[in-house]
Amino acid sequence: ALVSGKQILEEAKKKGYGVGAYNVNNMEQIQAIMAAAKETQSPVIIQASRGALKYSNFTYLGYLMKAAIIENPDIPIVMHLDHGNSLESAIKAIDLGFSSVMIDGSLLEDGKTASTYDYNIKVTRSVVEYAHARGVSVEAEIGTLGGIEDGVGSGKIHLTDPKEAERFVNETDVDSLAIAIGTSHGAYKFKGAANLAFDVLKEIRALIDIPIVLHGASSVPKELTGEVNKYGGKMPGATGVPMSNLQEAIKLGVSKINVDTDGRLALTAAIRKVFTESPEKFDPRDYLGPARTALTNLIITKMKDFGTAGHA
Ligand code: G3H
Ligand code: 13P
Ligand code: NA
Ligand code: ZN
Repeated sequence: ALVSGKQILEEAKKKGYGVGAYNVNNMEQIQAIMAAAKETQSPVIIQASRGALKYSNFTYLGYLMKAAIIENPDIPIVMHLDHGNSLESAIKAIDLGFSSVMIDGSLLEDGKTASTYDYNIKVTRSVVEYAHARGVSVEAEIGTLGGIEDGVGSGKIHLTDPKEAERFVNETDVDSLAIAIGTSHGAYKFKGAANLAFDVLKEIRALIDIPIVLHGASSVPKELTGEVNKYGGKMPGATGVPMSNLQEAIKLGVSKINVDTDGRLALTAAIRKVFTESPEKFDPRDYLGPARTALTNLIITKMKDFGTAGHA
């Protein structure tokens, strides 16, 4: 059944487990998430970026998510907008039936340039007002991640300032808050070993009372990049956040864990394998089917490792 983001995340926060939020662009990804949720009896957050919604012409992805809800009446499901960049983007998602929206006011509408605190407050408040009136939850973000969120020209990561986070939550009434503690989007997160600012996370947890969100939380496992490279891919030096670090973050108070890259890797590795081993195949089901199975297995493992399993 469709539930709000707040419902799933407050429950997770209270009981101390993490809920993965998995990005989707197509039917196979949605089916893989639901198969994993069913297998492990986990609540799920299915999230679509602005790019994903545009790619699918909005309606297609919206209705595929609704199909997941119809097919899985016993699993709590959140339809979530990932990285909304304006009130307008939030309204579009809410019109489509989403039960949760992110407004990433840490960046300007271009999705690249770091914004001011006052801009973030203003755009976040406008989304909260609109969304809450319709029973929709809101995730905001403060601080900047690396990767796609590098400020133009600066290239710097600004870890979240705990005092600023506290003030921000009080001034906006958001339901969850994404913070920057050293993660970044994509498959190249760290030059050397992974390094998260757990001390900053602890401080934030002590100061705010709403669920905390971690973006850029893919693990980029060597097994997957190894497969991609083995079957003709080229991803040298890819690194992510080890599962042990994510489990530590959950213990310290993170409730929502955003995963896109690992899913992409699982699909790509499986498709490359089929193309390499069976070059005579050309029926999309012959490679999208195995890709869907590989993604299901990846997410089953994550649901167990995050502690989501059994909480549907
Ligand atoms: O935060 C970014 C997500 O991984 C979505 O990526 O904007 O390429 O769909 P995308
Ligand atoms: P990854 O690139 O680490 O999967 O992060 C995804 C994300 O944060 C989506 O909002
Ligand atoms: Na940010
Ligand atoms: Zn993100």
